[in-house]
Amino acid sequence: MEPSAIERLKGAQPFFWGNPGCRHAPECLESLPLKFEDILDAEKRLQRFAPLLAECFPDLDASGGIIESKLVKCHKLASWIAREDGIDGLSNVYVKADHALPVAGSIKARGGIYAVLHFAERVARESALMDDGLDYRQLLDPKFRRIFGEYELSVGSTGNLGLSIGIMGSALGFRVTVHMSKEAKDWKKERLRKRGVDVVEHASDYTAACVMARQLSDGNPKIHFIDDENSVELFLGYSVALLRLRKQFADAGIRVDAGHPVFFYLPCGVGGAPGGITFAARHVFGDFAHCFFIEPVQAPCMAAGLITGKHSDISIYDFGLTLKTDADGLAVSCPSRFVGKLMEPLLSACITLTDKDMYRYLLAMYETEDMEVETSSSSACGGPKMLYRTNEGIEFIKSMGLQASPGAATHIFWTTGGLFVPAEQHAAYRAMARRI
Ligand SMILES: Cc1ncc(COP(=O)(O)O)c(C=O)c1O
Repeated sequence: MEPSAIERLKGAQPFFWGNPGCRHAPECLESLPLKFEDILDAEKRLQRFAPLLAECFPDLDASGGIIESKLVKCHKLASWIAREDGIDGLSNVYVKADHALPVAGSIKARGGIYAVLHFAERVARESALMDDGLDYRQLLDPKFRRIFGEYELSVGSTGNLGLSIGIMGSALGFRVTVHMSKEAKDWKKERLRKRGVDVVEHASDYTAACVMARQLSDGNPKIHFIDDENSVELFLGYSVALLRLRKQFADAGIRVDAGHPVFFYLPCGVGGAPGGITFAARHVFGDFAHCFFIEPVQAPCMAAGLITGKHSDISIYDFGLTLKTDADGLAVSCPSRFVGKLMEPLLSACITLTDKDMYRYLLAMYETEDMEVETSSSSACGGPKMLYRTNEGIEFIKSMGLQASPGAATHIFWTTGGLFVPAEQHAAYRAMARRI
């Protein structure tokens, strides 16, 4: 008998786990605590803030203050994966290029920036100083900066969330403290310190850094803790991507229907970013969307939480795993219960990969498409191999009544970070990829 997913998880072996709880979209979406209207509300808030964002960040001039990434068709990468991973007929491969998202350089630019704007809007409204006749650039006025300066934004992070909150918070005049887990890369800390952000380095992992940050903010009305494990705002900020992607699909003439499903391969840490995307993908594309979370073999916290149904009551250490992975953004020991519960009926499957595979794909992305991404990001490319080349993946395809041919589907590799990685760090990633 082949080892089960949980046996593979314990043994730090790659696995594909098809989620038996996944439901038809019409059956489950209405009963969830968040609705499609919440995504639309988030999008409207981002539009209200667009003039302010364009004023703060020259990178957003061309988009009028909208932070969005490209959808890039990747023929060469598709051929490379088809050849190297043995997947005949793999085509229709796209990268949703959040690794190059302006302002914060990672997928966290969506949720993190949205969460800061949501709080700023609340504080500004409560001050009763807002003029409804003016656009949101008024919030850059010194009188609002003074009010924002009375508050501290606090967050626990593996690096990228801290960057996005630090960049946006400091642009508005908030004081920002980022509690960094031991996995966070030095260049991320340095970048934040240059912006005047207080970076607290923890010798512990991400989950413990969050506990500390939460305790320090508890009971202090002037500290606003942005809780990566429970934040509705972060989740909805990520989800807005699907409204934009729907338009990008239409512009690119990508058909989505029963014969042409769309597969999303989503790198997963605590779960907020891939969770928000999955939630919105099931709203926008219904049962034609299949979402796969990708985690490192040493940090499969969301898979552990979903398989056991224990969510945040379980940690990867309970299985003897180490959290040791070069995919720093995915180095999370304990998943979000809030996201895990929402994913129970929405998510198609969890996949794990070795760091070695992530490095293989990192190099392939560079050599085939000239894309420089973090290891966390490149993990997205491992989805098709686990879907089409494992017994569990093939079983999943059959049980969903999907066509066996990879060419029938559109494959979206959601790359999640890379733009701000220093050139020498990218070179070091590639050197590592060539060595192993
Ligand atoms: C590059 C990158 N990819 C993916 C993720 C995963 O996002 P989440 O922790 O919300 O699941 C992170 C988280 O920091 C990240 O930095």
